[in-house]
Amino acid sequence: MKTAIYPGSFDPVTNGHLDIIKRASKMFDKLVVVVLINPLKNYSFSIPERVGLLSKACGDIPNIEIDSYDGLLADYFKEHPEIDVIVKGLRATSDFEYEFQMAHTNKDLNPRAETVFIPASANTTFISSSMVKQVAMFGGDLTKYVPPEIHEQISAKLTAEFAEKKRMARLRAEQ
Ligand code: PNS
Repeated sequence: MKTAIYPGSFDPVTNGHLDIIKRASKMFDKLVVVVLINPLKNYSFSIPERVGLLSKACGDIPNIEIDSYDGLLADYFKEHPEIDVIVKGLRATSDFEYEFQMAHTNKDLNPRAETVFIPASANTTFISSSMVKQVAMFGGDLTKYVPPEIHEQISAKLTAEFAEKKRMARLRAEQ
């Protein structure tokens, strides 16, 4: 039995992530999708929210499990000897340098942690969580970027976040 892990921030999950999840779930017997933290990033969604969005978006895929972890991917890998390989998606050559560095860091921290890359499907190469967040904050149409069952939750959260940002900016300007 071959098990892979697909780690990411998923803030929020997009059709680009789902493309990789669906294709990887066909390549491996089991795919564990894990919400991790990049401490250098600012997130809009809490970890339980991101796990919830992933669960809704992946509801019809039978061989996946969704988890979250507050630590190094290399340590999650150590704690789960049943996981064979890390799967990452590559959208463009611009992703490569960073992903290559992470793959080497993970292998350095845990020599068992090999990474395989799956190229994003052509129709999803331009989709990113930060692009989705910008479109949602301005009330744009998310139809092509995130699965329909999570549109509303994403729009509601991000329009509220944007309204709060504008309110704080106004307050600062008045001071
Ligand atoms: O979707 P992202 O933001 O590109 O995912 C990056 C993520 C969260 C997978 C990466 O930052 C990560 O693995 N975070 C956990 C801490 C870690 O192991 N970092 C890599 C070694 S520096």
